Amino acid sequence: MNHLIAPSILAADFANLQRDIEMINNSEADWFHVDVMDGMFVPNISFGFPIVKATKQHATKPLDVHLMIVDPDRYLKDFAEAGADSITVHFEACPHLHRTVQVIKQLGCRAGVAINPATPTAMLKDIIADLDMVLVMSVNPGFGGQKFIEHTYTKIAEVKAMSANSNPNLYIEVDGGVSNQNIAKLIEAGANVFVAGNSVFSAADQSAEIAQLKRS
Ligand code: DX5
Ligand code: ZN
Repeated sequence: MNHLIAPSILAADFANLQRDIEMINNSEADWFHVDVMDGMFVPNISFGFPIVKATKQHATKPLDVHLMIVDPDRYLKDFAEAGADSITVHFEACPHLHRTVQVIKQLGCRAGVAINPATPTAMLKDIIADLDMVLVMSVNPGFGGQKFIEHTYTKIAEVKAMSANSNPNLYIEVDGGVSNQNIAKLIEAGANVFVAGNSVFSAADQSAEIAQLKRS
């Protein structure tokens, strides 16, 4: 599978959101990564339904919604209705993960599960066959622009090995500190979806930066 690039709108200019969405529409990016933070699961609040809906209105590519919220079951239907094409919940936030994953699928969305840097990949063993995507966090969730955690390479390789037989088409996404400096090594480790916030939006030529990530 060719790898996918999902720029994170968390790093966009919210006063010019439509302009930044158009930039992504016109670039080689594949998905929009949409980071929802509740100030409880993570120590930051980003945005909720109005921004997701507004993004959906203008985006011509799928919305990859990453829920960094406690008890996400309360809002799965609302995010699906707001336009999510995939919904990723955190392993650490879901006591009944199997049920949560089934609900996401019943809503017609791709189902993803994210693991924090300190959560072992082995925790996914009994759910990995049911998933469309595993998101390996390469920073502690909550903020853009953080430093990439090197141990991520090992975790990606573990997820890749774990899914090889049971779920060979699994999307393995990496989120946090991804740039043209580390994407080649992440691909080699087995990742195939790349979230990029700061590396794209702080670039002088944002769509050229996306093109370079895509060509790695
Ligand atoms: C972090 C978010 C990320 C963030 C990545 O909690 O989940 O998606 O936007 O931003 P960068 O690429 O700047 O690390
Ligand atoms: Zn994210």
